[in-house]
Amino acid sequence: MPSILHVSDIHFGPPFLPDRAAAVRELADLAKPDLLVASGDFTQRAKRPQFEAAAEYLRSFDLPIVVTPGNHDVPLYRVWERILSPHALYREHIRDALNEVYRFEGLTVVALDSTRPSRPTNGKLRRGQLEFARRAFAAASDSDLRVVVTHHHLAPPPDFEHDRVMSGARRALRVFTDIGVDLVLAGHLHRAYIGDSLDFFPGERRETGIVIVQCGTTTSSRGRGRERLKNSLNWIEADRERILVRHYLWCDVERRFRPHSEHRFGSRDSAWLEWGDDAETAGGEANEAKILSSRDRS
Ligand SMILES: [Fe+2]
Repeated sequence: MPSILHVSDIHFGPPFLPDRAAAVRELADLAKPDLLVASGDFTQRAKRPQFEAAAEYLRSFDLPIVVTPGNHDVPLYRVWERILSPHALYREHIRDALNEVYRFEGLTVVALDSTRPSRPTNGKLRRGQLEFARRAFAAASDSDLRVVVTHHHLAPPPDFEHDRVMSGARRALRVFTDIGVDLVLAGHLHRAYIGDSLDFFPGERRETGIVIVQCGTTTSSRGRGRERLKNSLNWIEADRERILVRHYLWCDVERRFRPHSEHRFGSRDSAWLEWGDDAETAGGEANEAKILSSRDRS
C-alpha cells in the first residue's frame, strides 16, 4: 500500500523553524515513505535566497517529491514581477512545471497550481487544469489510487476561521468526483483537518466521498487557529479500498513530531468493516511502531 509523507507551508524566511525541518528529515529517514508531498508555500516572500534554501532542503530528501506552488511563492509586494512573471523563481528553483502528473506503483498523483497571482491570497483551479486532471487520470490504471495536490483548500476548516474555500471549489469537486479522485492533499490555512466532498455534493457518489486532507504549517511559526504556534504533518497509507490518515503534531518537550489523531476510510462496506476491526486505538508509540514497520510489511 503506498505511503505518503505530507508536509506543507514550509515558509523559508523569517518564520522558518529549522528544528522542525530537521525532525521531518529524521521522520522521513525512519519511516521511509514512498513519496513526499509538499503542498506549497515554500517561502515567506518569494525571494531568491528563500527559494534557494527551500530547494536545498528538498534535495536533502532521498525520496520522490511531489510539489505545487503556494500563494507565498508568488511575489506579493513586487507587483510588476507578480504580474509579468509570478512563478519565475519557483520554476527556477523548485519545479519548472506548475501542473504535473506523477505516476508511481499503485498511485497516480496530479499536482495543480491553485495560485492566482492577480488576487494573491485566494486560490482557484481553472477549467483547463480540471481537463488536465481528467486526461491524466484517464490514462491511469483502474487500481491506482487517484490523488490531487493543491495549495488552497477545497473544504472549510471545522473551526470556521477563514472558512471561505478556494474560488470554484464546487466545480472542481464535481469534476474530481466524476473522474474518480480518491484523495485531495492541500495546505494554506496552517492547520490540519479532514474534509469530505459529500459535505458539498450530498447527491453524488453517495457510497464514498473524496477525502480532503489538510496539513498545517510543518516548519514555520505561522500556525493559525487551533494550531497557533504549532506545527503539523500528515502520514498517509492508502489504496483504492481504504485510506489511513494520521495527523502528527510537533511536541515541544520531545522536540519531534508525534501522532495526534488517526482517521480511516473504506470505499466499500466490507473494506470498511475490515479496516474498522483492524483499527488500533493505542497511543503514539504503537502508531509510530506501525509506521516504522509498514515499509517492511509491503
Ligand atoms: Fe502558508
